[in-house]
Amino acid sequence: MVLRPMFLYLSKNKVLNRSAKRWGLRMGAKQIVAGVTIDDAMTAVKKLNEFGLVATVDHLGEFITSKEEAIESTTYCIKTLEAIADTGVTCNLSLKLTQLGLDVERELCYENMRKIVGRAAELGNFVRIDMEDFAHCQQTLDILSTLRREFPRSVGTVIQAYLYRAKQDIYDLKGVNLRLVKGAYKESPQVAIQSKKQIDENYLSIIKQHLKSGSYTAIATHDHVIIQKVKAFCRVEKIPRSQFEFQMLYGFRKELQEKIAAEGYTMRIYVPYGTDWYGYFMRRLAERPQNVSFALRGLLSK
Ligand code: FDA
Repeated sequence: MVLRPMFLYLSKNKVLNRSAKRWGLRMGAKQIVAGVTIDDAMTAVKKLNEFGLVATVDHLGEFITSKEEAIESTTYCIKTLEAIADTGVTCNLSLKLTQLGLDVERELCYENMRKIVGRAAELGNFVRIDMEDFAHCQQTLDILSTLRREFPRSVGTVIQAYLYRAKQDIYDLKGVNLRLVKGAYKESPQVAIQSKKQIDENYLSIIKQHLKSGSYTAIATHDHVIIQKVKAFCRVEKIPRSQFEFQMLYGFRKELQEKIAAEGYTMRIYVPYGTDWYGYFMRRLAERPQNVSFALRGLLSK
């Protein structure tokens, strides 16, 4: 598939990324990005809650290269947690460590993260650290481990099934609230499985492994086949519904999202918002080139 590498390449283009911040939500991004302000995000989450869906919000941010930008991003995350508390919506926070300065200075990133998770703990909320590319994986797990000593219930992360290390990570992270995904970045054959069939097999295998260990598991996928298999596994193994949730991205498979919620499962929607939407949008096009129709429709309507 030629489109996937092309969109992943475009997602890393800093010039386009910077320009897109000035464009407003374009190219159909409105369908999968909830808006640009915290209020936009809260309005979207309220609507989802009315349909029986819970949410996690992500203030989009890419290519943070200065201390000031990382601190600004931290302040924004804290404001978002406070807006969640003020509006009373059912929602937690997702973020990326590079947004908080991981590539600028590790210690700065850790201190920023500590402030955010500390505020989440005070407000009785939870912070999910999204997993970025392989180059950031070990640092992310190290920061998680330090944070968990202080805030054991207020922070978790994501494990990507395409990585060879996933099985061992799941073993090491027994008891941690994890989101499990197939993996969204382009990784080399040295570190990641390349065949889609094998990634799907490994995905199901790590989901079962984490569920069987009694750990809280967020199964984040739009793949109805995997979702069916997980439901069947949980029925047979008598895994209570309070021990897992399904997650999907805002704007994707809305009917399926509502159906799963109506069946009595927790269905959490990942709601991205902010002016820095370009990289996120390109990664979604890379995952599913059919989404290009979003972009074409969006371009034609502008
Ligand atoms: P995949 O794309 O493998 O599709 C499998 C099948 O599902 C398709 O063949 C089709 O039948 C069906 N399908 C999928 N999408 C559909 C659609 N829109 N409409 C109709 N049918 C569809 N990645 C990462 O590296 N780090 C992270 O932190 C996260 N976080 C994250 C959070 C959440 C909530 C989600 C849902 C995903 C992520 N991801 C992620 C992305 C993840 O790694 C993965 O790239 C995408 O979810 C795409 O894989 P899927 O499992 O959804 O299905």
